Amino acid sequence: MSALAFERVSHAYGQVLAVDDISLSIEREELVCLLGPSGCGKTTALRVAAGLEPLQQGRIMMNDRIVADGMVDVPPEQRSVGLVFQDYALFPHLSVTENVAFGLAGRGAAERKAGALAALTQVGMREYATAYPHLLSGGQQQRVALARALAPKPSVMLLDEPFSGLDRQLRNQVRDEALHVLKESGAATLMVTHDPEEAMFMADRVALMRDGRIAQVGPPSELYLAPKDAFVAGFFGEVNRIDGTVDGGQVATPFGALEAKGLASGTPVEVLIRPEALRLEAIPAAGHPGGAVARVLAARMLGRSSLIHLSVAAANGHDLHLHARIPGRYLPAEAAEMSVSLDRSQAFVFAAAGPTPDH
Ligand SMILES: Nc1ncnc2c1ncn2[C@@H]1O[C@H](COP(=O)(O)OP(=O)(O)OP(=O)(O)O)[C@@H](O)[C@H]1O
Ligand SMILES: [Mg+2]
Repeated sequence: MSALAFERVSHAYGQVLAVDDISLSIEREELVCLLGPSGCGKTTALRVAAGLEPLQQGRIMMNDRIVADGMVDVPPEQRSVGLVFQDYALFPHLSVTENVAFGLAGRGAAERKAGALAALTQVGMREYATAYPHLLSGGQQQRVALARALAPKPSVMLLDEPFSGLDRQLRNQVRDEALHVLKESGAATLMVTHDPEEAMFMADRVALMRDGRIAQVGPPSELYLAPKDAFVAGFFGEVNRIDGTVDGGQVATPFGALEAKGLASGTPVEVLIRPEALRLEAIPAAGHPGGAVARVLAARMLGRSSLIHLSVAAANGHDLHLHARIPGRYLPAEAAEMSVSLDRSQAFVFAAAGPTPDH
């Protein structure tokens, strides 16, 4: 039984089709990230699930119960959802405890207070129970907002870019804490983010959206290691792109031929290579280098890894500009020639996106 399910849900604002026929289900204790570029429909999907947008097409199920379809429309406050948004939206005139107790409306005063304090303990904010929101840092305010959403023990948590208002260091810390709190709560969580690294950090599964549709859904490692198309491959960080043409089930690259499964000869393709898939080695003094020969254009240390800009000769006479990301601090000298080989598990071949202009 899934805690939350979208079944063929579409949603338009006038002529703009924001969500286009999505189906997705989330289990209890599971954390799914809805990931995608700005405007792809993430917030709309979340709002439809919460009941903040009236359902137009499809069906929303919660714990095997219809909460929205053509006939039924359960109001948001009866859906057992906890909501957390980017702006913490705490009431400034209420104390931290009162803010969290607000989510427990309809219960007795003692029960509300006990529930609020329990939720504050859960997020590590018990000692701020009597403080007012303006005295808290952004990270602390977001933890209170999380406690407020969790206090009624909802079966589904819906979070929209909850950490994007925090600076980088604080964000890492707050989302680490939030991950554990959400997992312990047992709720099914759907969290919106446009940051692929954040999605990979938080999610059991990622649903990557594009133009209102789900491009691919699966565990982060699956999207990263087995992307279905060039959009998915390119969304998780920079990729090198090489154009090619299929010839007998293969495409030629400077690093040898790669398999082009299921593509007819003559099909224009894009070869996508992650920068960490390129391995650099010194060219042996005698004998042939193991891989292709590249010239180092620039080398920069980026902390835990280094980025090497390479120029590699291609068959058509044009030099390719490629980026290699290598671990550690080793920096080759500029203009040095090196041998480059390819980790083929991180190179992907897809039919080229659109028709190539013929002029
Ligand atoms: N209230 C609205 N009225 C009209 N159009 C809207 C409305 N809300 C969103 N849209 C449009 O619907 C599309 C999807 O918007 P949505 O806010 O769901 O995207 P998003 O993925 O959450 O983007 P972001 O990452 O920028 O928050 C966009 O084209 C947006 O302009
Ligand atoms: Mg949004």
